[in-house]
Amino acid sequence: MDKELKTTNNPQIHPFSNLHLLPEQSAPVIEKGKGVYLIDTSGTKYLDAMSSLWCATLGYSQHRLVAAAKKQLDKLPYTHSFRGRRTPPVNELAEKLIDISPNQFTNVFFASSGSEANESAIKIAWSFHKANTEKARRKILSHEKSYHGSAIFSALLSGSAPMHEHQNLRLADIIFTATPDFYHQGFSTETEDDFSDRLVSHLENRILREKPETIAAFIAEPVMGVGGVIIPPKNYFKKVQKVLKRYGILFIADEVICGFGRTGNLFGSQTFDLTPDIMTVAKGLSSAYFPISAVLTTKQINDGLETLSKKTGLFSHGFTYSGHPVGAAVAMETIRIIEQDRIIDHVRDISKVFKIKLMELSETKAALNTRSVGLMGAFDLAIPNKSYPKEFVNGEFGNKLVGLAQKHCLFIRAVGDTVVLAPPLIISKGEINILFERLTNAIGQWQKHFRFRF
Ligand SMILES: Cc1ncc(COP(=O)(O)O)c(C=O)c1O
Repeated sequence: MDKELKTTNNPQIHPFSNLHLLPEQSAPVIEKGKGVYLIDTSGTKYLDAMSSLWCATLGYSQHRLVAAAKKQLDKLPYTHSFRGRRTPPVNELAEKLIDISPNQFTNVFFASSGSEANESAIKIAWSFHKANTEKARRKILSHEKSYHGSAIFSALLSGSAPMHEHQNLRLADIIFTATPDFYHQGFSTETEDDFSDRLVSHLENRILREKPETIAAFIAEPVMGVGGVIIPPKNYFKKVQKVLKRYGILFIADEVICGFGRTGNLFGSQTFDLTPDIMTVAKGLSSAYFPISAVLTTKQINDGLETLSKKTGLFSHGFTYSGHPVGAAVAMETIRIIEQDRIIDHVRDISKVFKIKLMELSETKAALNTRSVGLMGAFDLAIPNKSYPKEFVNGEFGNKLVGLAQKHCLFIRAVGDTVVLAPPLIISKGEINILFERLTNAIGQWQKHFRFRF
């Protein structure tokens, strides 16, 4: 075991909601990173089973990414990308993204975060419909429990309830459809295919009730990460896409988490047979070494935007840091590493060990519904079947395990009482063993703690 955790006297930084304040201990101050480990100011070394926020996909020691950033900073640290201005790294990255992406994309728009990319995708969808004289198409379909970002509109798109609670965010134009969660919502008599049929038939009825000519797009994550690693059932997206096509509704794939290897293919769209009209990527695009995101669109979408621009003037949209040359250089180098180091092959290989270890957690009797695809996985905590004291609001059990795992020098994340894992894609077999050994120990303590308390 690495050095004991020492609590530090942190200055108070505003605790925004996604970063649950852990009970009974303060958050460590992280100073360094090495491989799959994060190291705090006291020298404690934590195995990071979450790639920070699903994003540090290549771990924390990629010197090539640092060198790519430095080289670009020396040459040209920044210029904007408005009115067609280009830089070599942005040109190169755009071409590469089009080349490696699964669909027939022809155009790329750059931004800095997943939220910006998703909001841009919605604006693009609205403009496309306007170009086709279908400007009544404003509504957006999204999954319950989905997560698409924290800016106001991307939070509105998110079906995850906590995203709405503080500010009472709601918009009639966003229609939530059932989560494709076979584990929790499938009937015992149903196959995955039956479940998909039931959901898709609900979806179609809802589209008809809302009037198809008022619906612009459906935004969906190939695997819902923040919702608790919800892996879509067999053929679900194939059936969804058929319905969307029937009613002229665009399909936006939010690949912010799934993109760049997480599911065992370069994109989640390849793992789950998605052919989106628009695709958003971020996080793993630069392995989080630089904040950069992108929106990829098809020729059909782009032709629509061009037609509209000719009629009504330029599509007025863009951010100061859209197409940042340093971000583009880092992203390009990230993709080179993924290709040259055969990261996808590694994920396919190592994910078999990850799956087995995850399934073995069931032996502790604390882990239910273990599930994974590639290197993202989850399990639900088995909560003792007793009436809880009032203070045990939803999430308290998960938070407790996160805190105990931290004491065992392991970073995990809980979404309510579901524990999610998404280690860096470069993790080795030995490190996976360490991850699960620490997690099993933390679970043992968690079980003891709650037996004592109840
Ligand atoms: C699927 C998905 N979309 C969008 C976002 C938002 O990305 P960002 O935090 O970079 O705005 C996230 C963040 O976790 C995400 O998981």
